[in-house]
Amino acid sequence: MRIINGKVILSGEHSVVYGKVALAASINLGVVAKVVGDGNSVDKNEIVIRAIEVAGGDSKLGVEIESEIPVGAGLGSSAAVASAVILSVREYLGSPIKSKKELFNLVMECEKVAHGKPSGIDAAVVVYGGLIAFTKGRPIEKLAIGKPLELLLVDTGKPVETTKEMVELVAKARNREDLIDQIGKLSLRVKNELVLGNDIDELLDNNGCLLEELGVVGERANELSNELRKLGASVKVTGAGGVKEGSGMLLVRHNDLNVVRKYLDRRKMSHYSTKIGGR
Ligand code: MEV
Repeated sequence: MRIINGKVILSGEHSVVYGKVALAASINLGVVAKVVGDGNSVDKNEIVIRAIEVAGGDSKLGVEIESEIPVGAGLGSSAAVASAVILSVREYLGSPIKSKKELFNLVMECEKVAHGKPSGIDAAVVVYGGLIAFTKGRPIEKLAIGKPLELLLVDTGKPVETTKEMVELVAKARNREDLIDQIGKLSLRVKNELVLGNDIDELLDNNGCLLEELGVVGERANELSNELRKLGASVKVTGAGGVKEGSGMLLVRHNDLNVVRKYLDRRKMSHYSTKIGGR
């Protein structure tokens, strides 16, 4: 059984839909899937059903899934589940997946269930792993990070909107072209700085503010972001976001992350520590 890791988008969600480069990385929260034969005993959601189908499995097949990745938090849960299910079904059928490209194409088919027209960034990072630069329609670039990057993921609650709905909201946003352009330029800088091992905190925070202006961050997440900024943190939502209720996870950087951890613990808010690059 292979562990498939979730992901964070470090820079460029939404602007990636408009052809700009975005940076994404695997995180240390994963999912495993195992075919158990009889599907009647297993609760299957629409992603799992589609993944069994695209892998060529019988719709009666059952697949057990164990996941550490919070669902609907912008951490690539659906792409990771699809990938794990496809791999396990193809193993079971005796025709294992032979290449990452093949797996990527099948995961993309599953992503269309929830995303409509996904850019492909979630499927790409889940399948290729590590740190990647992704531009729609171009070859995926695997990057070596210059210096490991420690991050805190802070849960602002599950969005009620789907990724598809958030992408549609952005399409109607005031000042969209200018904001997307600015995020695209920031992402290019983030890419260079990550490879050089330089600090990206300020760029991350700028990206966070641009996403707020774009209208994909709800009130609850906005307020929390501003509180964390008062502590000296850099903050950005990761993934599609959400406005009516939660906005999924915030990515938080600080030169002493313990300051942020203590603040969140006092408020009994859940958070995860993750590291990009290194061991
Ligand atoms: C979702 O993880 C990222 C978005 O940019 C949508 C997409 O790229 O398909 C919001």
